[in-house]
Amino acid sequence: MTLPLQDNILIVDFGSQVTQLIARRVREAGVYSEIAPFNAAAEAFERLKPKGIILSGGPASVMWEDSPRAPQNFFDAGVPILGICYGQQTMMQQLGGNVEGGESGEFGRAFIEVKKGCALFDGLWSEGERHQVWMSHGDKVTQLAPGFEVVAVSDGAPYAITANEEKRFYATQFHPEVVHTPDGAKLLANFVRHVCGLAGDWTMAEFRATKIAEIREQVGEGRVICGLSGGVDSAVAAVLIHEAIGDQLTCVFVDHGLMRLGEAEQVVSLFREHYGIKLVHVNAEERFLGGLAGLTDPEKKRKFIGGEFIAVFEEEAAKIGGADFLAQGTLYPDVIESVSFTGGPSVTIKSHHNVGGLPERMNMKLVEPLRELFKDEVRVLGRELGLPDIFVGRHPFPGPGLAIRIPGEVTKERCDILRKADAIYLEEIRSAGLYDAIWQAFAVLLPVRTVGVMGDYRTYDSVCAVRAVTSTDGMTADIYPFDAAFLSRVATRIINEVKGINRVVYDYTSKPPGTIEWE
Ligand code: XMP
Repeated sequence: MTLPLQDNILIVDFGSQVTQLIARRVREAGVYSEIAPFNAAAEAFERLKPKGIILSGGPASVMWEDSPRAPQNFFDAGVPILGICYGQQTMMQQLGGNVEGGESGEFGRAFIEVKKGCALFDGLWSEGERHQVWMSHGDKVTQLAPGFEVVAVSDGAPYAITANEEKRFYATQFHPEVVHTPDGAKLLANFVRHVCGLAGDWTMAEFRATKIAEIREQVGEGRVICGLSGGVDSAVAAVLIHEAIGDQLTCVFVDHGLMRLGEAEQVVSLFREHYGIKLVHVNAEERFLGGLAGLTDPEKKRKFIGGEFIAVFEEEAAKIGGADFLAQGTLYPDVIESVSFTGGPSVTIKSHHNVGGLPERMNMKLVEPLRELFKDEVRVLGRELGLPDIFVGRHPFPGPGLAIRIPGEVTKERCDILRKADAIYLEEIRSAGLYDAIWQAFAVLLPVRTVGVMGDYRTYDSVCAVRAVTSTDGMTADIYPFDAAFLSRVATRIINEVKGINRVVYDYTSKPPGTIEWE
């Protein structure tokens, strides 16, 4: 790392599904942290010289032979340590306590009772209080390591929180990093600020600086290619990488002609003119629409678009002479979802289109500077990098674009009709001040024609559905409850202003049982 060392916390990862959440909570407390897998933790400790260590949870059992351990010298380094779940168990065992397999574990909501004050509880919890926490464990500590005492208990875990205040070692059986432990973020903030003594003045500006240094170190003199989709994630990744390595980055924008009104032009002018980023704008509309001709099955449409995108991207990469690295705007939720907890296959509801298949095919190394971030943090970073609000705050837009909002055959004419209707709908949402309260809002052009009357004429035109949902992650969603006056204003404008549509309906379906997109 080329940056001067900043105060930091080292998070040792034992493979928990939620280790990244620890990092996020520590960041929210204004403290920089890095995650190192347990087998690289010793090296990370030397490099980072952390002011505190957090040992994560994990799927292993400390009773298994060869299950992971924290480097033993961590416990003699004079640095505060917080062990969470598996981290607590290995810490207890490594320091001379005992852990046993429970016949039944504790999973989900549990209540702990505070038995004694401790530095983790400063300004937060007092003796005798009961608080909700989130447990997920089978094994449990049955004998404390010397110097530890119990400061909180739960029904299933007599050692729910233990502390060795002299050494500044703390251990929780539950997960403070998840939102179902309502005070968990404050407990972690107490650990990093009160116990480790860190100021809590770290910001996204520093994340930016650290990532820039990391990208420079990773890429060296190499060349990087980045596929822009018009979405927030790839845009933020590209701008950040450009700041790090300038003209070593080339962006490729495969314009499939299925974007919303004015969006493609906006991407090109923002990147080329505003940021001066080398951008190859591939106008592939004809190629995509040609291939979509006659396709009506949603999966066939999706598969064609995904495959064609990769083909076009590869051709363009070859034209510019290839690259050593492929940049992607992968976010933390993509990383979690790509690890199957059960290891079993899951049912494909929709084949999602992104550049996921590219790295293996193109034999390139990956640059993924946003891997640790959640969507809202990417937005903060985007603003930090000076991306305009209208771009950074934009609703998610699917890779296959308008093609999956036109059930049935996709034609240029139908794309143009939909673009106009969609633009009117979004304009009304923005002017009513509702845009940011909605996760996603869009129009859908149905392959259904109905009879209407306009003036003295009979019309026989398409139906347009409008949809708006609230959600936090796109996995589940609820409909947005517009008032009737708003919806009738939208319907009137669309029917009056868009030739080809004579009826507007509102989609009242939540997810599940519906999905957000129509195809
Ligand atoms: P569904 O329709 O499955 O969508 O409820 C959930 C979220 O994912 C978006 N979406 C996609 N995003 N490539 C993407 O990058 C895709 O192929 C794709 N399909 C759906 C959708 O817009 C919603 O936010």
